[in-house]
Amino acid sequence: MSPDGRRSAERRPPADPSRSVEGLREQIRHHLYRYHVLDAPEISDAAFDALMEELRALEAAHPELVTADSPTQRVGAPPAEGFRPVTHPQPMLSLANAFDEEDLHAWHKRVRAGLGDRPVEFVCELKFDGAAISLVYEHGVFVRGATRGDGVQGEDITPNLRTVRSLPLRLRREADPPEFVEVRGEVYLPIRALEAINQERLQAGQMPFANARNAAAGSLRQLDPAVTARRPLDLFVYQLGAVRGKRFETHWESLEWAREAGFPVDAHARRVSSIDDVIAYVRDWAARRDTLPYGTDGVVVKVDSLDQQAELGATSQAPRWAIAYKFPAEQAETRVRDITVHVGRTGALTPVADLEPVRVSGVIVRHATLHNEDEMRRKDVRIGDHVVVQRAGEVIPEIVRVLPEKRTGEERRFEMPAVCPVCGSPVERRAGEAVSRCTGGASCPAQVLERLIHFGSRDALDIEGVGPKLLQQMLDRDLIRDPADLFTLTKAQVLTLERMADKSADKVIAAIARSRRPSLSRLIYALGIRHVGVHVADLLARHFQDLDRLAGASFEEVRDVPGIGPTIAQSVVEFFRQPATRALLRKLRAAGVRPAAPAASTGRLAGKTFVFTGTLERISRREAAERVAAQGATVSDSVGARTTYLVAGASPGSKFDRARKLGVTVLNEQEFLGLLESR
Ligand code: IVH
Repeated sequence: MSPDGRRSAERRPPADPSRSVEGLREQIRHHLYRYHVLDAPEISDAAFDALMEELRALEAAHPELVTADSPTQRVGAPPAEGFRPVTHPQPMLSLANAFDEEDLHAWHKRVRAGLGDRPVEFVCELKFDGAAISLVYEHGVFVRGATRGDGVQGEDITPNLRTVRSLPLRLRREADPPEFVEVRGEVYLPIRALEAINQERLQAGQMPFANARNAAAGSLRQLDPAVTARRPLDLFVYQLGAVRGKRFETHWESLEWAREAGFPVDAHARRVSSIDDVIAYVRDWAARRDTLPYGTDGVVVKVDSLDQQAELGATSQAPRWAIAYKFPAEQAETRVRDITVHVGRTGALTPVADLEPVRVSGVIVRHATLHNEDEMRRKDVRIGDHVVVQRAGEVIPEIVRVLPEKRTGEERRFEMPAVCPVCGSPVERRAGEAVSRCTGGASCPAQVLERLIHFGSRDALDIEGVGPKLLQQMLDRDLIRDPADLFTLTKAQVLTLERMADKSADKVIAAIARSRRPSLSRLIYALGIRHVGVHVADLLARHFQDLDRLAGASFEEVRDVPGIGPTIAQSVVEFFRQPATRALLRKLRAAGVRPAAPAASTGRLAGKTFVFTGTLERISRREAAERVAAQGATVSDSVGARTTYLVAGASPGSKFDRARKLGVTVLNEQEFLGLLESR
């Protein structure tokens, strides 16, 4: 159809171009539907491309016939001033979580009780791992799409959503589109696409996306839709929001309608009539999830009848008629090809297992940290071993256990080197410490590089665009030796680096200049003192209020800061006592680096202690910590009796379980942002 059709269209312009343009669009929409929704294309990709080409040619010849819902109109211009806020027609609630079958039974019991023990049916769906979106169609035409935001208000990302090829710009007439309908779903990156993008990012010296959710959300929130269009994003619709001009009896019916209307609806959803069937579904997918081309982190169970849903209602955060069952951390088996040693910024030597690549929770894993010598011995990991690896939500995978029954006798034990593999300095392991360290200090290139990377990293001085590769080059050319040298770099020097042009050199210089006034807490963290993470840096900054006061503090003074123990105090005092530290501080000051004093601990959240776990979507952890600290709260690393709130992002770790045990209030990201913004 396509090559011939195309030729005749070129040769003999039709009498009424508007009719043939519309006819062509209908054909194209039909094939898009066959491809994206029914997963049953009728024509080859090449034939489809030919149809699109024909439509483009016709529209180019008759620009007056171009409509916004034409399949050619997917990539528009970027919005002039960022994303506009939009209020959702109905709040987008979150879901209560179930972590085991017991939780599911408890939910079932509550549902039964809420409905006076009347029979109830359920719909089981996969929980897609991507970014939640809301789409509004008026009279069948896509008019607006938004992120979930805080659930009440999201961001208008219509131009970006238009680039998602499986999103219908116009609903199919067969479905009799109502006057107004809001549909909700998840935009995601297929696993293969995510891997390819991460590979590219690594090659370009950029941080790979930590997980599928970040990748989807990041791609959707690109200011330029042309960038979004290059990401092969896909969509599943799983819920209707506000509807005017149509009525449904059940959720299942609304899903069937959505499919008919042209939305991609996952074919794995099932309607069942008992909790046993729900549990069978959950078990089945827990075992088979990695056979899917997209990421899923659980199962969502919904009461099917919309009347029953209304009867059960919702709390302020989540409907009572639905629950999300989270799959346990995924594990996979692979082999240890080799064990190498990584030298960190404090000289710590970390043994790293080099693995045969294996897919775990949708990501290819190639390395796993063995933490330190004792850990490696405890697990008895040897080169050549078959092992079980696990990703518990975060990026860095770990080895859960060795499979000794698979040993052949060829495996080799790994010995920690006696000298640093990078600088050759002796390695020492202090009594009582698990960590072996290179003693090379500032003369070990690996330590120097790692310190520089840390200094400019996002949670430290956040020097944009100055990453590992650039820093390595600067070191190689002897342009810098320590962080203070960054601030005296000239543009001419930067221009000598590989692939540096006039503009990019300006950017580097500007980014460095911008970081001259960091908060005191960022600067303390950036110094890379052993045991001083983001939260401890913050405690120190708020207590001492001044870098010189901290540098001159005694062991007792540091130890007595609430939240700081003797180990940290020892490390802090030792660090500031070193002549090299004193010299660095002098140099930084001379280069014009002046920290801004932090806010005192008064404010709305004074006396409250926050702990964070999991990945936050809309705010970095650093920023989250700064914002609560600015309101007087304390941030801590571990959940304990004094914790007021645990803020749990995606894929929370063991802190979550501990908080549940201790009865600590758990906030999801949306609730947390709500708390920050409430008066
Ligand atoms: S239903 C009121 N169904 O999970 C019910 N959500 O906290 C609204 N999600 O970010 C959600 N797959 O985007 C529903 N099949 C599914 C889902 C799903 C993924 C996401 C959703 C939201 C989170 C719910």
